[in-house]
Amino acid sequence: MADQSAVYLDYAAATPMDKRVLDAMLPYMTGDFYNPSALYLRSKQVHSAIDSARAMVARGIGARPSEITFTSGGTESNNLAISGVMHQYPGGTMLISAIEHDSVRQMAKQYEHKEIAVDNKGIVSLPKLRSAITDTTVLVSIMYANNEIGTVQPIREIAALIQNVRKQRQQAGNSMPLYLHTDACQATNYLDTQVARLGVDMMSLNGGKIYGPKQIGALYVRAGIVLQPQIFGGGQEHGLRSGTENVPGIVGFAKALQIAQSMRAEEAKRLSALQKYCMSQLSAMKHVRINGSQVHRLPNNISFTVAGSDNERVVMELDERGIMCATGSACSASKDEPSHVLCAIGLTDADARSTIRVTMGRQTTQKDIDRLLGALEEIAL
Ligand SMILES: Cc1ncc(COP(=O)(O)O)c(C=O)c1O
Repeated sequence: MADQSAVYLDYAAATPMDKRVLDAMLPYMTGDFYNPSALYLRSKQVHSAIDSARAMVARGIGARPSEITFTSGGTESNNLAISGVMHQYPGGTMLISAIEHDSVRQMAKQYEHKEIAVDNKGIVSLPKLRSAITDTTVLVSIMYANNEIGTVQPIREIAALIQNVRKQRQQAGNSMPLYLHTDACQATNYLDTQVARLGVDMMSLNGGKIYGPKQIGALYVRAGIVLQPQIFGGGQEHGLRSGTENVPGIVGFAKALQIAQSMRAEEAKRLSALQKYCMSQLSAMKHVRINGSQVHRLPNNISFTVAGSDNERVVMELDERGIMCATGSACSASKDEPSHVLCAIGLTDADARSTIRVTMGRQTTQKDIDRLLGALEEIAL
């Protein structure tokens, strides 16, 4: 049972599962436990639940069911997109932004790659990206929205740029493909994820960030793109991801995505107002500075630096007062290095170690934000 007096402000790290999602999943953990690959009728019914979930996810992002591969989450989707392409082009190179999640950065390190700098607002420069693309570039991976500072990248413009390069390659007789992958794990709750409108070739999604189960996600792969599998075995998931399917996870993920999309506009508007309020109050505090673009930003993210503070101490003191938030990316919070994202937008090591991330979600109210602001004042900023 969740602690009613606690204030949770770390929705970028994990979201509580929606009860409707849990209800959709439960039958597949108990009565309908059958292996979807078996031949009897009840197994076929379980298989058709996967088919329906795949169709729901496809519809949700404007894709075809055959273009959806279920994975174990954002990390695996990002890994599969990168290794799936790069493995096939030994002479190929790839580009990523300087603020990608570690599941993109660490995978990119396995191949020849270059990082594209972002400006001090956390946005990738299109001219810099264009000049970094060479005749050997096969993959560009730029995240849709950042998990630490919430900045939103101009994915449509990037897709148009990539499209142009493809045309030029065709005219020049260069047969090297050029694909655009985006990590949309943090974007799904608040932004348009219709793949045709975005113009992306591959897109990673994640259940644990959309009030669905953890350890489930999907990779959209545009029809015609062939990936090298990462997990070999029985050939499930179009041969890309072998292993008996996580049926409750898949069903729950599809339901979570459907709900997230139905709530998207309203939640974005509601949180945007709370974000504005919180940011204006924070900006009025001594030594506080907001990080990242205030315009191209997720409505639920507030990243701020309290000059001279020790962010781990602040987070622990907030926790003692029942308020949960983060120092940076939860996924790398155990590491002793300052965040590469904060360094990429020009913060010093010291400022990066004085930075707090507050991420709001469906249960966040103005009262929660007031509790946070009051506690920060108390902690003597
Ligand atoms: C932007 C982004 N990509 C990928 C991931 C990895 O997701 P998972 O830990 O579910 O594999 C995260 C998790 O925080 C994320 O924020």
